[in-house]
Amino acid sequence: MRKPIIAGNWKMNNNVAATKALVADLAPLVKDATCDVVICTPYTSLAAAVEATKGTNIKVGAENVHWAEKGAFTGEISADMLVELGVEYVIVGHSERRQYFGETDATVNARTKAALAKGLKVILCVGETLEEREAGITAEVVRRQTKVGFAGIPASELDNVVIAYEPVWAIGTGKTATAQEANDTIKVIRDCMAELYCDKCAEERVRIQYGGSMNAKNAEELMAQPQIDGGLIGGASLKAVDFSIVVAAGK
Ligand code: 13P
Repeated sequence: MRKPIIAGNWKMNNNVAATKALVADLAPLVKDATCDVVICTPYTSLAAAVEATKGTNIKVGAENVHWAEKGAFTGEISADMLVELGVEYVIVGHSERRQYFGETDATVNARTKAALAKGLKVILCVGETLEEREAGITAEVVRRQTKVGFAGIPASELDNVVIAYEPVWAIGTGKTATAQEANDTIKVIRDCMAELYCDKCAEERVRIQYGGSMNAKNAEELMAQPQIDGGLIGGASLKAVDFSIVVAAGK
């Protein structure tokens, strides 16, 4: 019913040469994937990634996008600029952007709207910090991030937004949420989407990924959970074989 989607988030890794090499290794390994396969690369590698993935089933995404069409925003990139390159997806609201670059729920919402307006598909990230989890407010946090993130976005766009649930304490730490924990919090997010839109929309059209130390070893167990529709993969997406094993679990 909901087609799984496995996306790599390369973060600040892989220059143009490394991008060409990694795509060349990856493409034959994932060519028979039954899920959607996406690689999100640094801005400087996007053109090379689009070129290298031509004729393959791998889609290319950026890791951020600005909300304005153009103007005095030094260092930022607009949705039009990404579309011009042939980019199809963009990650918005990654916890590293929220933690280190002042991203807020409101800017996540603005970026998401701008990206959708130009026909990009969005991977909208939510997730609680360790302090929030320990304070017992995980559900409140992800519900707030979801509600504000989707404010003003019509149901007609639901096929174009994937939610990535990434508990901040599980990112790059080697600590994965247990499959049960991930499934439970994703259910909270899906219920929130049902409230915002409708039960059927949330059940049939909203894809929710898990992210945070997902890798070749634990992907199968995570993907077996009924609520988990895919993964947003950091470290393990930098190695073709590891990423292809995660992709193979995405069924
Ligand atoms: P890791 O898979 O390296 O923990 O990163 C997860 C992530 O942040 C993906 O966006």
